[in-house]
Amino acid sequence: MSLIHTYQFNPQLFWIRDLSSLFSDFLRYALLSVLVVALVQMAFFRSVSALSRLRSRVGQQSNLSNSVRWLQTQTSTHTDLYSELKELVPEYQERVKKLKKEHGSVELGKITVDMVLGGMRGMTALVWLGSAVDPDEGIRFRGMSIPECQKKLPGAFPGGEPLPEAVLWLLLTGKIPNKAQVDSLAQELRSRATIPDYAYKAIDALPVSAHPMTQFTTGVMALQVQSEFQKAYEGGIHKSRYWEPTYEDTMNLIARLPAVAAYIYRRKYKDGKIISLDHSLDYGANYAHMLGFDDPEMLEFMRLYISIHSDHEGGNVSSHTAHLVASPLSDPYLAFAAALNGLAGPLHGLANQEVLRWIRSIVAEFGTPNISTEQLTDYINKTLSSGQVVPGYGHGVLRQTDPRYTCQREFALKHLPNDPYFQLVSKIKEVVPPILTKLGKVKNPWPNVDAHSGVLLNYYGLTEENYYTVLFGVSRSIGVGPQLIWDRALGMPLERPKSVTLEKLEQLCAK
Ligand SMILES: CC(C)(COP(=O)(O)OP(=O)(O)OC[C@H]1O[C@@H](n2cnc3c(N)ncnc32)[C@H](O)[C@@H]1OP(=O)(O)O)[C@@H](O)C(=O)NCCC(=O)NCCS
Repeated sequence: MSLIHTYQFNPQLFWIRDLSSLFSDFLRYALLSVLVVALVQMAFFRSVSALSRLRSRVGQQSNLSNSVRWLQTQTSTHTDLYSELKELVPEYQERVKKLKKEHGSVELGKITVDMVLGGMRGMTALVWLGSAVDPDEGIRFRGMSIPECQKKLPGAFPGGEPLPEAVLWLLLTGKIPNKAQVDSLAQELRSRATIPDYAYKAIDALPVSAHPMTQFTTGVMALQVQSEFQKAYEGGIHKSRYWEPTYEDTMNLIARLPAVAAYIYRRKYKDGKIISLDHSLDYGANYAHMLGFDDPEMLEFMRLYISIHSDHEGGNVSSHTAHLVASPLSDPYLAFAAALNGLAGPLHGLANQEVLRWIRSIVAEFGTPNISTEQLTDYINKTLSSGQVVPGYGHGVLRQTDPRYTCQREFALKHLPNDPYFQLVSKIKEVVPPILTKLGKVKNPWPNVDAHSGVLLNYYGLTEENYYTVLFGVSRSIGVGPQLIWDRALGMPLERPKSVTLEKLEQLCAK
């Protein structure tokens, strides 16, 4: 009734005649009210859902910004290489365990007599994490070609050559470092670079006339006195932690090599005075500086030089030697000194010295680097007929021009296109391959890394070619070192292939 009563007091909205019309109006009002409430509810729910959509979008945005922040955090928390590595070790251990458990008996190829008598060419026999050499494309550092490394790895300045520290980070972790990470690694290496006095004295015990590589190996052996691995092993370290002191040794070794190497150069060719490390310079620039070179172009060339000489998969003599010698748990100093002795062979690292010596002999023969194609052809044939190889040409794996040659050529074209020695090197590249091809036995007639480096070093004033292999040696530590750490982290066993006697081989073939 009260409703009716109220209704009666609302004549502007409804026309009241009698009770029945009042009742039908009441129904209409009720329906209208329900409609209005429904509309209000719809509007309410729509706005609520719009609000919740908005809130969820805001939420997504904050998730997105969180994940960006997370990525940034991930990069910055690993400004030190050790932490980055420590995180990776269990993952890699698991991969190796799985391979052994599930695929241990998978065959990777067959072994032929040619392989056994032919320096194990083409025999897949060891794992190397840092790099792989494709016969046609050449080296890839953790999957990245040299041009890709030049594009993606931080340099000393935008567009500069890759910093060796960046290559070290990449080879060890498989990750591309940012500039902050590389700078912190450069700082870490500088802080580890103190050389004990007895290392200089050990080198001084040799005559100055000793080959720089002999002096270098002696210096590395003297550094071994400070091996953390040896100390830890004697202290009874658990084998699951072998990689930790190996990391310490490797980083100390890499950090200290330039100063030892520079000392040998100063001692043998200059005044013998040590040039101290410059704490504002990166690894490659510091090495050049300690040698006595401060031309920014030379510093930049040193960065490129060290980066491209760092690694060339595991089968080459120096890398394989380091891996082999480390396998009975010899520490990184012992392993690397052995690697240097392999590098000192003229068919391996010493070839860079031989190339410049050979180029100089051409210039001496004709009295000028500007010689004709006929003259050059005659000289190459003379080299071959005297039973020598053409240094800087050929390779055990590569079947095309070495991309390490190509990037040095590009550097030369940019900085020293008119240098007569560079022009002679360019001419040699045109003349040698057809001659070697004609011999019919040379598998790769194209230039390798050593065919080019000498003329660049010579141009910047590092003219003493007998020193060149030491530069190669310093560089190789950046590639070999990471593998020695992984060898211990992955529990790689003592290396022990099977040999056969000649008689046994003949017997096997007779069957
Ligand atoms: C690098 C090198 C040792 C690879 O050796 P490899 O794998 O045995 O090369 P191949 O299979 O092509 O050798 C087949 C033949 O060609 C010869 N050969 C290869 N490269 C040659 C070169 N640059 N000049 C002359 N002859 C060469 C080899 O001596 C061998 O001759 P042989 O059968 O009479 O002994 C070889 O090419 C060489 O001696 N090059 C010159 C040194 C050099 O530049 N070393 C640096 C390498 S990065």
